[in-house]
Amino acid sequence: MNQDNLKRIAAQTALEYIDGGLIGVGTGSTVNHFIDLLAGIKHKIDGAVSSSKASTALLQSHGIEVLELNSAGELAIYVDGADESNHYLQLIKGGGGALTREKIIAAASKRFVCIADASKLVQVLGKFPLPVEVIPMARSMVARHLVKLGGTPIWREGVITDNGNQILDVHNLELSQPIALERTINDIPGVVTVGLFALRSADILILGTEDGAKTIYAETIEVDP
Ligand code: A5P
Repeated sequence: MNQDNLKRIAAQTALEYIDGGLIGVGTGSTVNHFIDLLAGIKHKIDGAVSSSKASTALLQSHGIEVLELNSAGELAIYVDGADESNHYLQLIKGGGGALTREKIIAAASKRFVCIADASKLVQVLGKFPLPVEVIPMARSMVARHLVKLGGTPIWREGVITDNGNQILDVHNLELSQPIALERTINDIPGVVTVGLFALRSADILILGTEDGAKTIYAETIEVDP
């Protein structure tokens, strides 16, 4: 089975967690499958809050109403993909550049259901370069800070986020303490969002595997404070 089929299996299983109300919807190729499938049960939901212009366009193309988070209140569920997850369901996200709105909606939701193909589950985060959204005027300064942390930041040239900012993809970071590193990078002036989702990790990870969907619940964290 190809990777795209595995993503669709995960997306299909996430539908079982939809129980009416407003749905938080993430961004990316796995979520695109989820949105296509959500269209089949759109009569059961009140609408969606979207994490990107791309997801908004796809949701609306299916006739699913998209609401602003400010008028939505707390969401029961957020469904989104990931670039990597460890067994604590701490994630790297932002490969698609939508990390800031994704982190906001994840924080506004009671339950975060992450959907991915099986290749995204790793022992230690960090093979995938860590995306960091920055205010454009601070890009070089933030990059220097990230070098001091041991990283190799690469500017994602030509990409402007939905919020008008830029992205650094940081290679070679040591990511064994994701909560601590998320806090440290958050504290650099000019950083809008770091694509580490450790302070607010996922609650459930649904992986598409060759043998069907596999649902994973977070292991208890022992290494992080
Ligand atoms: C978007 O900014 C990302 O956080 C995506 O959720 C992540 O890159 C996963 O994307 P795919 O579903 O396309 O692998």
